[in-house]
Amino acid sequence: MKGVVLAGGLGTRLLPMTRVTNKHLLPVYDRPMIYYPLQQLAHAGIDDILVVTGGDSAGDFLRLLRNGHEFGLEHVRYAYQEGEGGIAEALGLAEHFVGDEPMVVILGDNLFQHPIRGAVEAFVADPEGAMILIKDVDDPERFGVARLEGDRVVEIIEKPTNPPTSYAVTGCYFYDSSVFDIINALEPSKRGELEITDVNSAYIERGSLRHHLVDGWWTDAGTVTSLYRAGTLVAAEHGNAVLRQMRPEGEASNA
Ligand code: DAU
Repeated sequence: MKGVVLAGGLGTRLLPMTRVTNKHLLPVYDRPMIYYPLQQLAHAGIDDILVVTGGDSAGDFLRLLRNGHEFGLEHVRYAYQEGEGGIAEALGLAEHFVGDEPMVVILGDNLFQHPIRGAVEAFVADPEGAMILIKDVDDPERFGVARLEGDRVVEIIEKPTNPPTSYAVTGCYFYDSSVFDIINALEPSKRGELEITDVNSAYIERGSLRHHLVDGWWTDAGTVTSLYRAGTLVAAEHGNAVLRQMRPEGEASNA
């Protein structure tokens, strides 16, 4: 099972903080944002990880993460996304790295309170098709929103004005390697991006999209409000055993 962290994009919703650095290098409470998805993957036992980044600060990821030893990894690989062509375009850069293996993908601005390890194990046990993690939220209109019929996700609508449910599609996705055929056939959306929601919708059409409900909190950190919220949530967790377990090795706790 391969792991992919997507940390490209321009982070324009966080200007001026992102004028001279990449969004995922900004702090969330006591560490850079990108640590959280990396810790999640490492804690789930994923040791072959690709970080996709972009922009003018891409070299800073190497300086920060080095070979990933701090996370218990042998090494981290890097890919560079030119421009901001969308989440699915960024994932497309992982094709050679992933090969025929199943993969877990996390957006670099997503934080989960609890380990995603259970979901990883479920997908490893049955690595066909795709799986998404969904979460009941107060502001679904900011996200991809899942419409369910019975126990199946039958539609995902990207940032709907009138969300049909309050289930946000979080930025953690599991795919088999056929995801790259889907990505290679995608057309850019109205905003000029290759959309991850279109990828997930293709799996719905094939009848092979599963989902898990996230327990514990989940947040993105891509807007001023959600970045602040993420820091507050992490701060309140300080001393939480699970989060401490996911700390990089050797890191001192100031809890
Ligand atoms: O956070 C979950 C949401 O993320 C989902 O509910 C939405 O369906 C999904 O489209 C996405 O929405 P956002 O509008 O929040 O995505 P954003 O453009 O902020 O990108 C999220 C991360 O994806 C970003 O932190 C890095 C990565 N990314 C994004 C773009 C546009 C890239 O690596 N390259 C890109 O070109």
